[in-house]
Amino acid sequence: MLFLRHWFVITHIIIISSIALFNWASNLFLMNIDLEIYSPIHQIKNKLFDEQGLSIFIKRDDLIHPLISGNKWRKLKYILKKVSAENKTHLVTFGGAYSNHLLATATAAAKFGFKSTGIVRGEDVTNDTLFLCSLHGMELIFVDRESYRHKEELFKKYFGDDTDAFFIDEGGASTEGAQGCAELVDELTETYDHIFCACGTGTTAAGIINGIQKRKLSTEFNAIPVFKNGDFMSGEIEQYLINPATYKLHTDYHFGGYAKTNTELISFIKTFVDDTGILIEPVYTGKMLYAIYDLAAKGHFKSGSKILAIHTGGLIGLLGMKDKF
Ligand SMILES: Cc1ncc(COP(=O)(O)O)c(C=O)c1O
Repeated sequence: MLFLRHWFVITHIIIISSIALFNWASNLFLMNIDLEIYSPIHQIKNKLFDEQGLSIFIKRDDLIHPLISGNKWRKLKYILKKVSAENKTHLVTFGGAYSNHLLATATAAAKFGFKSTGIVRGEDVTNDTLFLCSLHGMELIFVDRESYRHKEELFKKYFGDDTDAFFIDEGGASTEGAQGCAELVDELTETYDHIFCACGTGTTAAGIINGIQKRKLSTEFNAIPVFKNGDFMSGEIEQYLINPATYKLHTDYHFGGYAKTNTELISFIKTFVDDTGILIEPVYTGKMLYAIYDLAAKGHFKSGSKILAIHTGGLIGLLGMKDKF
């Protein structure tokens, strides 16, 4: 009888220790959430810039990863660390059918060992972005546009009972996202007079502004909203600022609205890609670079200025816009 009791206690200790060891080991695995950052800075040479005495550079965040590219890794980094710290294993996020964020989340989930679900705005479709999301194991749920506006409710409806599920907002919009984007500024070894970046949720812009402030740089930050009537972007940016800051919002480079283009923008992109060998796309980086060229042509910058454009990636989206070219 005594032997049986001992055996029972020992078996229990072994089981409990094994579970603890397993949790500890899986935490160790999940906690190793990092990517080596490869984002060199290239100069863009051009007759216009020479005439105006300007030096234009581009930070190649698009080279960080083929699919977790541009600002996507920077925004996901601290979100995923939080997911891991909370011992969650299932990423649930939101986006349109061409969302760079959905694809980055699906890829990061596969890479770091999470399950992922993407709640997609609009009717059930397939395209290159969604194909790649599925290939990386993301489960897709399509919802109508009205339901999509209520993301917290959708999360509760589908995953209210899933204690492993973690809500990641559309575009990775969050304080953690801004925290990751601020690190971009730490990588700069020179000071620029202006930094330019395209804005969707405003998270990347806020992170860079926080980074500029932290390092006490004299750099002026320039935000290019990719939506029509982009003045609202200041509210989006400011919710993630650590301290109040001044920055410039250029609201005239939306080309009709989100993902809208015209022949002028497409022609600019074709010339830019052909001249530089750097691929850009019409939704974000094309509009941001067009703005820099246009402002330079209008004499907006002081001669001698050094300007840094941030290449925020998103190049797979280009495959959904072939008909515009
Ligand atoms: C390629 C690309 N550039 C820029 C942005 C804008 O970033 P944010 O949403 O942080 O303003 C996005 C959207 O997230 C994007 O996909």
